[in-house]
Amino acid sequence: MKIIKVVNQQAGGQQGSEIFEAALNNGAKTFGLATGSTPLSTYQHLVASNIDFSKTVTINLDEYVGLAYDHEQSYHYFMQTNLFATKKFAKSFIPDGMNANLEQAIKNYDGILANNPIDLQILGIGENGHIGFNEPGTSFDSHTHIVDLTPSTIKANARFFENITDVPTQAITMGIADIMAAKQIVLLAFGRQKAQAVKAMIEGPITETVPASVLQKHVNVVVIIDDDAASLLR
Ligand code: F6R
Repeated sequence: MKIIKVVNQQAGGQQGSEIFEAALNNGAKTFGLATGSTPLSTYQHLVASNIDFSKTVTINLDEYVGLAYDHEQSYHYFMQTNLFATKKFAKSFIPDGMNANLEQAIKNYDGILANNPIDLQILGIGENGHIGFNEPGTSFDSHTHIVDLTPSTIKANARFFENITDVPTQAITMGIADIMAAKQIVLLAFGRQKAQAVKAMIEGPITETVPASVLQKHVNVVVIIDDDAASLLR
């Protein structure tokens, strides 16, 4: 793993967007995208740039189950607002948490992933070490699946909803094997609340109890972190 320390999230976003641009210049055609607060500064830098993504495909990691696409907290809405409204892509895929047939939605997404190998995957990390919505205990061999969110994740995401009871309890997510299939991975983490997870990811044993620890097995991972997120590293 290559670790890049940055002074703050803005600087991390600058690094993130430079890695996107370099990948594009090296022929990358498909980008794996994440939502949440972490990648926001990267998307802001991409939006402000004149990088042309019009021939690029994007594939998002995950989506809540049962949240309408136009719900302010849906990941469809997030991507539209923070990136797609201003940057044009050839095609963008996000898991379909509104599909009445979730098994079909899973099959569809596995097909999309098979047809569009990801060149660069951007990731955040959950306080419990999750990547995508792959919670602790998820098999490293997993592909697209439905997850029951843990109380820790529901609590962490409650800040975006009026009441904790409004937070969806399920999500559809790419699996860990799908994430590991990306040619390059960039994981960003900012803030003290991520320090424990970052330490476990980088210095801890490779274990399904800490999903992000699987990244130690990937040959091309860049971790972009601020001082707070790095504060527990040896
Ligand atoms: C979101 C995702 C999640 C987040 C993680 C961190 O698409 O896949 O794994 O990256 O929950 O969330 P933030 O960035 O809000 O701290």
